[in-house]
Amino acid sequence: MMPNQPDFFKGACRLVFLFCISLFLCLHVSAFEGSEVVDTDSDEMEQGFGPVTADDIKRGERLFRGLVPLGPDAASCASCHNVNPIDTFNWNPSAHEISRFYRERTAEDLYAVVMEPVSSKMMEIHHTYEISPEDMFLVKSWMDDFAERGMDQRPVINNLIFFLLLLVVFIAAVADLVIFKKIPFKLLHLAVILGAGLFMLKTIAHEAIALGRSQYYEPDQPIKFSHRVHAHDNKTDCLYCHSIAEYSHEAGIPSVSQCMNCHVIVREGSHSGRFEINKLIEAFENEIPIRWIKVHNLPDHAFFSHAQHVGAAGLDCSECHGEVEEMDRIMQVSDLSMGWCLDCHRSTEVDILNNEFYSVYMQLKDDISAGRLDYATARETGGTDCMKCHY
Ligand code: HEC
Ligand code: HEC
Ligand code: HEC
Ligand code: HEC
Ligand code: HEC
Ligand code: HEC
Repeated sequence: MMPNQPDFFKGACRLVFLFCISLFLCLHVSAFEGSEVVDTDSDEMEQGFGPVTADDIKRGERLFRGLVPLGPDAASCASCHNVNPIDTFNWNPSAHEISRFYRERTAEDLYAVVMEPVSSKMMEIHHTYEISPEDMFLVKSWMDDFAERGMDQRPVINNLIFFLLLLVVFIAAVADLVIFKKIPFKLLHLAVILGAGLFMLKTIAHEAIALGRSQYYEPDQPIKFSHRVHAHDNKTDCLYCHSIAEYSHEAGIPSVSQCMNCHVIVREGSHSGRFEINKLIEAFENEIPIRWIKVHNLPDHAFFSHAQHVGAAGLDCSECHGEVEEMDRIMQVSDLSMGWCLDCHRSTEVDILNNEFYSVYMQLKDDISAGRLDYATARETGGTDCMKCHY
């Protein structure tokens, strides 16, 4: 049976209408998800907070940066948890670190840790805040967004741009002097050519010599391990951690389990609270090695052995590495150039008579001369010690 015309028309209209509505809703929701809605955590919905809007994120940022006061005499979060990369060492975790850490947690968790802290460091710092759960939700919204975006990069104040600019001026001056002859003052050309030329030469020479070197390199490490705290304040010997320095080419970096010898008990530091030590414990429990950033690097074609300098020569670590016990963050103090090695070799007296390293050879020489020994093999001079051949 054929439907009569008007009914069929009505039905079709209704279908098209429904289709349009659902299309509109679909598009709207997906657009919402794409830009506006950042997190629709069910816990937060239950608390009565709606989905996160761009406005929430902006307001959260204003709270975090302290543009809206968080209580009487309360410091802004950003004054400790730096939002931009900074050159100086900062004991407090950066805003990006805490944001990433709380990405998997809820606004209530954040509220609890800031407003009802348990670690003594947190209690000392976070006790003056008067923040409502609603405001903490905004802060969390911004932190979640920030966790994704990451730190703003530093502005590139590049020597290269300046160099290229100088090069252009230099070429223009030469071109005008030789070809175009538009500017009558020859002295000006000469001054520009000489000034720019000399500066560029100096820059090239400087960069070429420093190529591959990194004096004063001082990167942030994955855990804020401080030599000042350990080697100075707690008087731990360098060789407790860098125990192979006397026998091996390398000085060695201690393993996580070696840190845990003490940190099974020590769970809180006076500068960083629990945050940094928690990373160590997490690495230990999950058996993940810590990816320390290597600071001192000689090229592969230069041979250097700690055993020769620490073990045989008896040099102090500070002769080459500076006052490490004063450093919260390791810095490469020496330039590690060939000239640096040679300068010391030319000027350092070697105590041949009282040095065990040489007494082995002298003893062998005496024994052979006096007929107590027929001959010596490389074994007697250390040729079978593992560390002589292996790193
Ligand atoms: C409690 C263990 C510990 C003690 C004690 C210790 N260190 Fe370290 N050291 C480390 C760890 C871990 C690193 C790697 C992380 C870093 O660079 O901060 C390191 C790195 C270094 C580096 C830089 C290595 C590189 O990447 O080039 C030098 C140099 C150094 N230590 C020298 C010393 C000296 C000198 C002392 C004694 C004053 C000392 N250390 C005491 C654990 C220790
Ligand atoms: C004669 C200079 C000199 C002395 C003394 C010296 N170091 Fe080094 N150290 C270096 C150089 C050079 C490097 C870089 C080696 C490389 O890249 O191959 C280095 C690297 C290191 C490293 C990085 C990891 C490694 O094994 O390469 C550590 C840690 C370290 N030294 C600790 C120490 C400690 C601890 C002492 C004292 C016990 C010490 N150093 C004494 C010159 C020295
Ligand atoms: C010989 C014992 C000992 C060893 C080994 C040791 N630590 Fe510690 N560490 C301590 C003590 C004690 C403190 C607490 C100092 C304080 O009160 O601030 C501490 C504090 C810290 C802190 C917090 C610093 C602060 O003041 O906030 C960090 C981070 C840390 N250690 C990391 C490490 C790492 C990483 C290792 C392994 C490379 C390590 N520690 C090995 C004894 C040790
Ligand atoms: C005076 C410096 C300072 C200020 C201001 C500050 N913090 Fe902290 N914050 C710290 C330090 C230090 C720690 C590490 C303490 C610890 O782990 O025991 C920390 C830890 C944290 C943590 C990580 C806690 C954890 O789970 O280990 C969060 C999240 C945090 N702060 C949020 C905030 C927020 C949000 C504000 C602003 C309302 C703020 N902080 C203001 C110094 C500060
Ligand atoms: C602070 C002074 C000092 C610095 C810096 C230094 N050395 Fe030395 N080096 C010595 C002394 C002292 C000896 C003699 C050790 C001994 O045999 O008793 C020595 C011995 C050596 C030897 C062994 C020579 C032999 O007897 O066979 C080598 C190789 C060496 N150094 C390489 C280097 C390199 C590479 C550098 C630079 C990266 C360097 N040294 C930096 C003090 C230094
Ligand atoms: C005279 C230098 C020298 C000495 C000393 C030395 N080794 Fe080796 N070792 C080597 C060389 C070279 C290789 C690489 C051999 C290969 O690739 O086949 C090696 C390889 C190894 C390997 C890898 C497995 C293998 O057989 O290839 C191990 C493990 C090892 N050595 C352990 C040691 C230990 C432990 C000592 C101290 C008792 C030691 N070595 C002393 C030169 C030496």
